[in-house]
Amino acid sequence: MKGGFLHRLLVNKLCFVLLALLVVPIVILLLGTTQEQLRVFSQGFLQQQGLGHLGDNASAPVGFADPAERRITRRNKDCNYAKGKWLADEKRPLYSGNECKQWLSKMWACRMMQRTDFFYETYRWQPHGCEMPEFSGPNFLKRMKNKTLAFVGDSLGRQQFQSMICIATGGKYSPEVEDVGWKYGLVKAPGALRPDGWAYRFPGTNTTILFYWSASLSELETLNTTNSVTSYALHLDRPVTFLKQYVHSFDVLVLNTGHHWNRGKFVGNHWELYADGKPVGKGRLADLNRAKNLTLYSIARWVDSELASRPQMKAFLRTMSPRHFVNGDWNTGGSCGSTVPLSNGSEVLQDHSNDMPAEHAVKGTRVKLLDITAISQLRDEGHISNRTLRAPTGIHDCLHWCLPGIPDMWNELLFAQL
Ligand SMILES: *[C@@H]1O[C@H](CO)[C@@H](O)[C@H](O)[C@H]1NC(C)=O
Ligand SMILES: *[C@@H]1O[C@H](CO)[C@@H](O)[C@H](O)[C@H]1NC(C)=O
Ligand SMILES: *[C@@H]1O[C@H](CO)[C@@H](O)[C@H](O)[C@H]1NC(C)=O
Ligand SMILES: *[C@@H]1O[C@H](CO)[C@@H](O)[C@H](O)[C@H]1NC(C)=O
Ligand SMILES: *[C@@H]1O[C@H](CO)[C@@H](O)[C@H](O)[C@H]1NC(C)=O
Ligand SMILES: *[C@@H]1O[C@H](CO)[C@@H](O)[C@H](O)[C@H]1NC(C)=O
Ligand SMILES: *[C@@H]1O[C@H](CO)[C@@H](O)[C@H](O)[C@H]1NC(C)=O
Repeated sequence: MKGGFLHRLLVNKLCFVLLALLVVPIVILLLGTTQEQLRVFSQGFLQQQGLGHLGDNASAPVGFADPAERRITRRNKDCNYAKGKWLADEKRPLYSGNECKQWLSKMWACRMMQRTDFFYETYRWQPHGCEMPEFSGPNFLKRMKNKTLAFVGDSLGRQQFQSMICIATGGKYSPEVEDVGWKYGLVKAPGALRPDGWAYRFPGTNTTILFYWSASLSELETLNTTNSVTSYALHLDRPVTFLKQYVHSFDVLVLNTGHHWNRGKFVGNHWELYADGKPVGKGRLADLNRAKNLTLYSIARWVDSELASRPQMKAFLRTMSPRHFVNGDWNTGGSCGSTVPLSNGSEVLQDHSNDMPAEHAVKGTRVKLLDITAISQLRDEGHISNRTLRAPTGIHDCLHWCLPGIPDMWNELLFAQL
């Protein structure tokens, strides 16, 4: 969205009609405006011409960024980042999927696998009526000087974490970045496949980015059972221990959960539901949707109580990342083989999240919603699908995303709100 747009406007005769339509109301409005409003008009106008970056200032109010909505003044803090449009942008992706080997898991680096179409990498999300700060590694690190960003959640949280480190390093090999996992107890236990998380410090700005694996966000307590396999009490109304231990050292916290709240995962993980310190038995909370809802409510309120004593911390609940299995589920032949971006539309216009449990859970708290659900729903072509390195198994991954890809945008929306 740069010079090309202006050029097209100039060569298009219709634009004179459009300009007239725009200028007339502006002239009328100018008759009684203050200096502040004048600046707002001119910024809105610039932005409409695709030249908004000339007056880039994230803290300033913006005008009608989209001709469809003539809202004159609107501060970014009132912006609904989830309402907007995917735009092709030659400045995307923000790092190369061939180069970010130091941080990207092989299983998510689609450039290194069998995929041959990469159109899905070349879009940016533009919320309606809000100005987006220029997102780049240096800008992110500058904003996060002396600060710690923590992602706590499941594998989709880990994808967002890897995306953020690739963006912060520009995807380049970065020997100066320190592994500081030990500071947070994130070390591989003997016999474990991997540690419970990772933490890296960028010495130039003293910025730490970490991820802690917690699929449910809840405290897990080992239960003594007569079975040979250990079961765990999953305490719906208690945050995972790691958060209680380390939340004081976080400046930005991004939580997510969702894809593990099903019978299969609960049985596989030997999780037993507890609330108020007792097994939930066959009561209401045996329903996993209700159980998840209680966890979302509880954690939002617990984080809110932390924010009462540390209001400078910013905390987000990231909404569910959508799955795109068609003609079956992951284990019944479902697939997501589309390579055509945005075949189902490019715009989100609704006011509410498609993840209502998350939206309700943060209501009345200082925890913000990082609402990526509807936006990501438009990107069914961005999943790993079956173009992996392994021999074909018939299983398509329509849950995780190729990186670079859709989770980069989640981080861009996060950055806009820091
Ligand atoms: C952005 O706008 C704010 C408020 O209008 C102003 O104080 C600040 O200096 C501006 N920053 C830049 C980089 O223009
Ligand atoms: C970072 O934190 C240290 C210790 O609290 C402080 O001395 C230093 O001035 C801070 N640096 C910046 C750039 O804020
Ligand atoms: C780095 O930042 C942390 C806060 O995230 C602060 O506690 C620490 O003192 C800083 N270290 C330096 C060397 O500035
Ligand atoms: C489990 O058993 C061990 C050893 O018998 C005991 O120390 C521990 O307190 C028990 N834990 C629970 C939750 O009952
Ligand atoms: C979710 O939990 C909250 C708090 O316990 C409760 O008020 C609300 O009714 C629940 N919503 C659903 C759909 O179960
Ligand atoms: C496209 O949109 C329709 C209507 O909203 C929906 O039912 C369908 O599942 C969407 N398809 C994909 C691939 O997301
Ligand atoms: C992936 O699945 C499609 C059908 O959806 C099939 O045509 C293709 O051969 C599969 N590719 C691999 C590598 O398994």
